[in-house]
Amino acid sequence: APRPLVDRFGRVHTDLRVSLTDRCNLRCTYCMPAEGLDWLPREGVLTDDEVLRLVRVGVERLGVRSVRLTGGEPLLRRGLVALVGRLAALGVELSLTTNGIGLARAAAGLRAAGLRRVNVSLDTLRPERFAALTRRDRLPDVLAGLAAARAAGLGPVKVNTVPVRGVNADEIADQAAFAVEHGYRPRFIESMPLDAQGAWDRASMVTAEEILAALGERFELVPLGRPGSAPAEEWRIAGTEAVVGVIASVTRPFCGGCDRVRLTADGQLRNCLFATEESDLRALLRAGADDAEVEAAWRASVARKGPGHAVGSADFVRPDRPMSAIGG
Ligand code: GTP
Ligand code: 5AD
Ligand code: SF4
Repeated sequence: APRPLVDRFGRVHTDLRVSLTDRCNLRCTYCMPAEGLDWLPREGVLTDDEVLRLVRVGVERLGVRSVRLTGGEPLLRRGLVALVGRLAALGVELSLTTNGIGLARAAAGLRAAGLRRVNVSLDTLRPERFAALTRRDRLPDVLAGLAAARAAGLGPVKVNTVPVRGVNADEIADQAAFAVEHGYRPRFIESMPLDAQGAWDRASMVTAEEILAALGERFELVPLGRPGSAPAEEWRIAGTEAVVGVIASVTRPFCGGCDRVRLTADGQLRNCLFATEESDLRALLRAGADDAEVEAAWRASVARKGPGHAVGSADFVRPDRPMSAIGG
């Protein structure tokens, strides 16, 4: 068995988030500007073989057990189904976080290739609002994607919502009701200062307390706590099977239980979502490094991992890359 990937604080890292592209087909206002970003050049992005190699080293030598595929928008990655098949063959628990565009067509094939679960981002159920918030008029595609994911058995299908004051924060209870009615698991996320524009401010962030108050006006909530090291705390809606989650990165940070490392689409290992340093695994691979060298660089990165983020304090330093290039 591989030697566990433990940091200075005793946290064992078994979860890897892998960004497969920094590109996206939406332009959510809280994420990136209308014109998009300076995307990575194609040759900078890890190839399928490179992704597979790094994940294999993670599994065989570092104890990685679960892999979440992210973006940008990971469904934009060409050959995704084949890559999922190869990753699944490594024996990891595979999940995907997507904006849902294209999921209607992809869901069954992804499931057959070995994907286990999907989380779908959906910030509003109102078509005009969706078009304004994402700058693309594609709500029906997302709704079709959600239904297809459920039908394909990619569940529990979680729906990620970032409430933003003055934009969609009045929909929290409606969104929870929608998800529950359709058999999805709604999750509400405190916005983090990781937008490309640097426009985040504490005042527009809807807090977990506010989210719970909004839910509490419509539903009776029974606390379930946090499953393992997950970011989401969960509540059952009394009298139903439905579960809602809240991801309170800012007001109730969960860094103490973190079990994650991240790999960007260009092969940089990040020991934290908010890390201000990266380790260049792509350079190692392309220089012909063997598995032991990759393992050593990976362990060294985790050995430098800090205790957690300092969002909201004077010590906070924004990472160089925005959320869409890190993979969330
Ligand atoms: P599950 O395996 O279903 O629990 O997935 P997840 O919630 O970890 O992943 P998802 O991609 O759905 O992310 C939901 C939200 O959690 C996003 O806003 C992520 O940025 C955030 N998130 C995921 N991991 C971390 C983390 O380590 N730290 C912080 N602060 N936020 C995280
Ligand atoms: N803060 C919190 N969550 C964010 N997401 C995107 N940008 C932010 C942000 N600044 C969410 C997306 C998606 C998930 C991967 O991260 O809505 O559901
Ligand atoms: Fe794309 Fe996700 Fe950013 Fe929206 S939040 S623009 S779906 S990467």
